Amino acid sequence: MDTAEIRRRFIAHFEAGGQWGAHTPVPSAPLLLDDPNLLFVNAGMVPFKPFFLGQESPAYPRATSVQKCVRTPDIEDVGKTTRHGTFFEMCGNFSFGDYFKEGAIDLAWSLLTKSVDEGGFGLDESRLYPSVLAGDDEAAELWMKVTGLPRERIIGLGRKENYWSMGVPGPGGPCSEILYDRGQDHGPDFDPATLGPDMPFELEDRLLEIWNLVFMQDELSAVRSKEDFDVAGSLPKRNIDTGMGLERVAFLLQGKQNMYEIDVMYPVIERAEQLTGRRYGADPTDDVRFRVVADHVRSSMMLIGDGVTPGNESRGYVLRRLLRRAVRSMRLLGFEDRALPELMPISRDKMGETYDYLHSDWERISRVAYAEEDAFRKTLQSGTQIFDTAAAEVKSSGQRRLSGEQAFALHDTYGFPIDLTLEMAAEQGLEVDEGGFRGLMTEQRQRAKDDARAKKGQHADVSVYRAILDANGPTEWLAYETLETESRPLGLLREGVQVPVLSAGEIGELVLDRTPFYAESGGQAADAGRIVFDGGALEVLDVQRPVRGLVSHQVRVLEGELPADLSTLHARVDPEWRIGARQAHSGTHVIHAALREVLGPTALQAGSYNRPGYLRLDFGWSAALHPDQVKEIEAVSNQALRADLAVSAQYMTLPQAKEWGAIALFGETYDDSQVRVVEIGGPWSRELCGGTHVDHSSQIGTLVVTGEASVGSGNRRIEAFSGVEGFNYLARERDVVAELTGMLKARPDDVVGRVQDMLERLKATEKELEKIRLAQLLANAGQLALAATDVSGVAVVAQRLDGAGGGDVRTLVTDVRARLDPERPGVVVLLGVSGGKVSVVAAANEAARAAGLSANDLVRATAPHIDGKGGGKPDMAQGGGTAPQGVDAAVAAVLADVARARAGA
Ligand code: ALA
Repeated sequence: MDTAEIRRRFIAHFEAGGQWGAHTPVPSAPLLLDDPNLLFVNAGMVPFKPFFLGQESPAYPRATSVQKCVRTPDIEDVGKTTRHGTFFEMCGNFSFGDYFKEGAIDLAWSLLTKSVDEGGFGLDESRLYPSVLAGDDEAAELWMKVTGLPRERIIGLGRKENYWSMGVPGPGGPCSEILYDRGQDHGPDFDPATLGPDMPFELEDRLLEIWNLVFMQDELSAVRSKEDFDVAGSLPKRNIDTGMGLERVAFLLQGKQNMYEIDVMYPVIERAEQLTGRRYGADPTDDVRFRVVADHVRSSMMLIGDGVTPGNESRGYVLRRLLRRAVRSMRLLGFEDRALPELMPISRDKMGETYDYLHSDWERISRVAYAEEDAFRKTLQSGTQIFDTAAAEVKSSGQRRLSGEQAFALHDTYGFPIDLTLEMAAEQGLEVDEGGFRGLMTEQRQRAKDDARAKKGQHADVSVYRAILDANGPTEWLAYETLETESRPLGLLREGVQVPVLSAGEIGELVLDRTPFYAESGGQAADAGRIVFDGGALEVLDVQRPVRGLVSHQVRVLEGELPADLSTLHARVDPEWRIGARQAHSGTHVIHAALREVLGPTALQAGSYNRPGYLRLDFGWSAALHPDQVKEIEAVSNQALRADLAVSAQYMTLPQAKEWGAIALFGETYDDSQVRVVEIGGPWSRELCGGTHVDHSSQIGTLVVTGEASVGSGNRRIEAFSGVEGFNYLARERDVVAELTGMLKARPDDVVGRVQDMLERLKATEKELEKIRLAQLLANAGQLALAATDVSGVAVVAQRLDGAGGGDVRTLVTDVRARLDPERPGVVVLLGVSGGKVSVVAAANEAARAAGLSANDLVRATAPHIDGKGGGKPDMAQGGGTAPQGVDAAVAAVLADVARARAGA
């Protein structure tokens, strides 16, 4: 049975629903939802979370879906086990306060065991083992009732297996995993009656979990681990959340060994076989690589399809890692050409049967993926050079181990993966200090975590906001309607904890029952303004929505004392700020539309930020823009301003918005029922957006594009000033020109020509000066030769030369040596000091070399004093150092070295 059929049967089974009632089929949500706790959607229930928590009421009591999911903590296990995929699809059925345990058990069991002819999966009952949370007798009884199985067939497992939560505060509950016995080839025999509470490791492959039924009834306030959490109370209603692994059921029904061999994945492995000339199934190490390729190509395609672009942080980094691991695995399989253009289209053809946007958006998806591969190939090239240098250094110093710092630098600066470093080191007979490397990685990760925590700061624990929301209901949000309003505190916090009062000078958070303040979202910065009350005033520093429905203001008490139980206060957005914010946000839409007009519709915003006077827009595009394109984008934007296009916001359903051609930016959640579409000039610019906007485009004033640059591979950033800031920017440039014309006594149009002339003259003068300096130096050569000191019969010229660079010193040394008496041993060591650096050059004539003296030794003798290094041959050697203060000591060291060499001879 192919995957499409499994999917179809699943949905049909629940749409029918039998005695438990029909389920509403809900399409998969995108992989990105606006949830501070989640990188990606990782379970079928995620889009339904507000229903489970009772924050919103669903339009249906029961639902079913096949949800796209990504989980990446197991990335290293991909290909090694039969079960771990970074991307997978979870088939689920959900009850929101409707049927509970018995319905969930009955519905799952009947689908699994119903014969294929009757529309089921036809699994053999004797291989199926239900499990319950040890002690959940109610569930065990129901399993016996529904299935007729004896008690001994029902396995009791501990919290680790059979209590489900999202790993963060939120909904959770005991569950029942349905396990499928794959037989003796996959693990030792067992007795279900005595299994548990832990699932023995050696049975994990044999007893494959195919479906998890969660009896969701608890709300968790803290989750420290799978087994250690705090239950804050019961959910408003008891719910059902289930997840059946589509890939797992597929590999059982298709008689395959693992998920990578199913109909929608295996063709990628086959193509990889053709490209690499190796065979899947011939070598266990290669097999893991083939599976990594199949998994990662698919996952990265799905992530790009939902709007992720490669980057160095969070989601973007996960994607980058997946793409690079895929490319790297192909290289390890012996294929060094561009791999993704060969593999990804195969995955698209398979997955595109279900997700047709993979076809329609292919131009963009493939461009992002291929650009990342190209960038990685360059990285590999330059990294290889750096690696070779590092390896040569290690060897020349007589060691066999690359330091942790070297490996880390390769990783951090050149994006060189550690496994690659290890492998290349091994090829050269070297080791790598892996422990040191891991230590540095941990430090870096900790820093990143601290940063993230500092960023999120106030919102780390949302339970306190949830409590405020539950007690008071949501904040009435008036940002679209008014700039000021009377209001009342719902909660007052300092450092995340509720406090009764905030004193003058203190910073805290204030949750209000109604507010005109715009909370940061959709790229638009939070409003600034003031809140005043009888006897005091607050400055608003930031505004956020820590949980849906609640607006929290970070405030500093300017004067007075703010009690939490204040009955009334007055919140007022700074009107100047808001005008600037509206200009900047509308300006962002205008530039986006202009960008797409100039570059074509595949240029799509990947992120944006705007605040009064300034905006930036990141977009997927692999090449640098030509200055003419940037100019054109600016011109098209300003024409749109001059055309005074009407700006309006309208509410409609998501399908309607799509019909309209509105651009939905991924990573933002849109309320299921109604979305807000902001349009400028009708169809010219239509975007899903919750921001505040001007009424007419001319109100933006002006848009001045100040730059365009790369922000990570495949992404460009365009920046602009809007409104008065745009004017100010141009005015500053005018001032610079005015200053230049004054200095040059030239008309503005002549400034460029004049500066060009001056630069050319300057260059010519510098060259001339250089010639003179050299002539002067060389004129000194004779004197220097005459000033040679006699050290045990050797003529030694050792001198400091201020102002001489490396080239000069070398010329001079050669010249002085030629002037020494060739019959007598003679050495010359000159140390030039210029720009805080020391250049040292040494030469020895033939007689000196015959007497056992070496220029190389002399340069080395200077090194410790000038913090330098260097070397060469016996007749001529050179080096450099960074400690000019040691030059005199270096000169003395040269004399001593010659004396020592003579004494030894
Ligand atoms: N939400 C449950 C899981 O992911 C069904 O296992």
